Amino acid sequence: MADLSVNFAGVRCPNPFWLASGPPTNTYGQVARAFDAGWGGAVWKTIGEPIINVYSRYGSVDLGGTRMMGFNNIELISDRPVEDNLREIAEVKRKYPKHAVIASLMVESKRESWHEMVKRTQDTGADAFELNLAKCPTTPARSSSG
Ligand SMILES: Cc1cc2nc3c(=O)[nH]c(=O)nc-3n(C[C@H](O)[C@H](O)[C@H](O)COP(=O)(O)O)c2cc1C
Repeated sequence: MADLSVNFAGVRCPNPFWLASGPPTNTYGQVARAFDAGWGGAVWKTIGEPIINVYSRYGSVDLGGTRMMGFNNIELISDRPVEDNLREIAEVKRKYPKHAVIASLMVESKRESWHEMVKRTQDTGADAFELNLAKCPTTPARSSSG
């Protein structure tokens, strides 16, 4: 089989096909299954604190006289505890050391909070961090129908 392995800024993986951060990358079971199925990397579902849920996952946004200009955010960060996610990221990296796992993080806009979260995540063996510096919970859209 052709060698599709890549070295992306120092992150090595068997192929360039990665799962984006979202519902399919929220647990060990999901990511392990994806790697068994052939995916080369995964950006873990964003983890962070505080875990803020939205009031409606199915609202729409109107613009002027136009109904349903777009959909409201339908999901925010992982609703699972940070420690559970970190333990499972470490388990995935132990079982699949050649696959890429990116830890996607989000905390409040405070230097100390970011330092603490990055330090907590470093020991998982994640290949890189994605820092969500301006994300959904900070600017929840008003829902017209939810
Ligand atoms: C339901 C849903 C949940 C998502 N959750 C996250 C998330 O937790 N963190 C993140 O960085 N991106 C999240 N995303 C964005 C995806 O990672 C991706 O960037 C986006 O869906 C665009 O890729 P696509 O065009 O292949 O869907 C989410 C997207 C969807 C649809």
